[in-house]
Amino acid sequence: MRIAIVGTGYVGLTTGVCLASMGHEISCVDIVPERVTAINNKKVPFYEPGLAEMLSKVVASRRLYATTDLVEAITRSEVTFITVGTPQSNQGIDLSYIATAARQIGYALRHVSDYHLVVLKSTVVPGTTDTLVCNLLEEGSGLQAGEFGLCMNPEFLREGSAIHDFMNPDRIVIGQWDERSGQTLAEVYKPFDCPRIFTTLRNAEMIKYAANALLATLVSFSNEIAALCEVTPDTDVNVVMQGVHLDRRLSPVINGERIKPGILNFLWAGCGFGGSCLPKDVNALRAYARERTVTPYLLDAVMNINNKRPAILEKLAEEALGSLRRAIIAVLGLAFKPGTDDLRESPALTVIKLLLDRGAIVRAYDPFVTSIPPGLGFDNLVTFCNTPEEVLRDSDTAIVVTAYPEFAEWDWTTLCNSMRHQIIIDGRNILRKVPWPKKVRYIGIGRVN
Ligand SMILES: NC(=O)c1ccc[n+]([C@@H]2O[C@H](COP(=O)([O-])OP(=O)(O)OC[C@H]3O[C@@H](n4cnc5c(N)ncnc54)[C@H](O)[C@@H]3O)[C@@H](O)[C@H]2O)c1
Repeated sequence: MRIAIVGTGYVGLTTGVCLASMGHEISCVDIVPERVTAINNKKVPFYEPGLAEMLSKVVASRRLYATTDLVEAITRSEVTFITVGTPQSNQGIDLSYIATAARQIGYALRHVSDYHLVVLKSTVVPGTTDTLVCNLLEEGSGLQAGEFGLCMNPEFLREGSAIHDFMNPDRIVIGQWDERSGQTLAEVYKPFDCPRIFTTLRNAEMIKYAANALLATLVSFSNEIAALCEVTPDTDVNVVMQGVHLDRRLSPVINGERIKPGILNFLWAGCGFGGSCLPKDVNALRAYARERTVTPYLLDAVMNINNKRPAILEKLAEEALGSLRRAIIAVLGLAFKPGTDDLRESPALTVIKLLLDRGAIVRAYDPFVTSIPPGLGFDNLVTFCNTPEEVLRDSDTAIVVTAYPEFAEWDWTTLCNSMRHQIIIDGRNILRKVPWPKKVRYIGIGRVN
């Protein structure tokens, strides 16, 4: 099918490239001309494993091209996906990008004579598609919903494994204005082998929030247990959570073999969740609840627990060194999770801010992040290092913030010898099994150190 994708961020570009690789003809639209040029030059404007190779193939075979001309993209398509951002705002969710895109698509539909389906893929609070988006499409096009199709189709891909997730979805949720809309979208996804849920637009919107709220809740649950272990001598949150994981309802034994479902990854303690989705989606749902006079007790607690975690790392460093003034701190990992260069809502930024406020000198190392974008208050305040040796040499403390498994493979004996004070604070408990030399003070989280 011929498909337009409005917004070429993580979700839009991954959607476009994957659908193109399956044989659809894709027109990607963005308002940022540099992004459009990069895509047409087979360059991915962000880091996502495997995406550059696939983009290169689909651009070369002319199955995908990018443009800033929305009308042109829509008039040559049968289906339009909206994949623009829905950032956090004081009111919970900023729907201004959605509104602009819907208005522009509405006007573009005036140039389309055949039936056209508009699919909202961005994450939005319940009621957005059938009110805001629908009204703007109707206003712009002069048509009534039904004359054009309308679906809400939430996306569940994860940065770092976006292609795999898109190509192998757990489920495809199709919120539909009417049956024709849903069936048209089902055609796009025909080759996929997974359960499909055809439902109301609002159920589709709510499913995405409920799924993310559950994951966030599991993380905060684990972190609340960690906070309790941190004040209880002879406890260790890692051992406690291992004991919890071994419940067969969480890790069933099938044919004598224990299965470890992915959900268990959210049942470990750490220094908090971040990223472009979990914090903003939980906050959007909290605001949505309050607007409807429901107090979201659980979701409030989830965010309160999460907001407190990064500060623990700064506190541990201060306790270990006495004062952070002019102390050289090596922050290991900046992205909100391994395998991405996304810094949005990363706990590392909070940790660094707290360290700088205390007068520390901050160095950073991350395999994928080589700078902090200007304007976030860190300009020229953090020195980026290219190697573990560089970041740790003469430092007073190292703080692990992102759970890169390769950190555990480093030659810690040599690295620690190059440090001024051999103090390691492990905000993700990933270095627990390292055989630490005697002189090293290793401080994990979720226990009394
Ligand atoms: N990033 C994820 O892992 C992920 C996963 C699932 C769902 N989501 C949701 O998907 C949506 C998009 O997220 P993202 O991370 O891809 O966002 P993003 O910020 O990376 O990309 C959004 C893109 O839309 C473009 N844009 C904005 N207004 C436009 C307009 N009027 N016309 C054309 N382009 C426009 C921007 O320039 C940008 O390139 C959000 O609602 C997000 O919550 C994200």
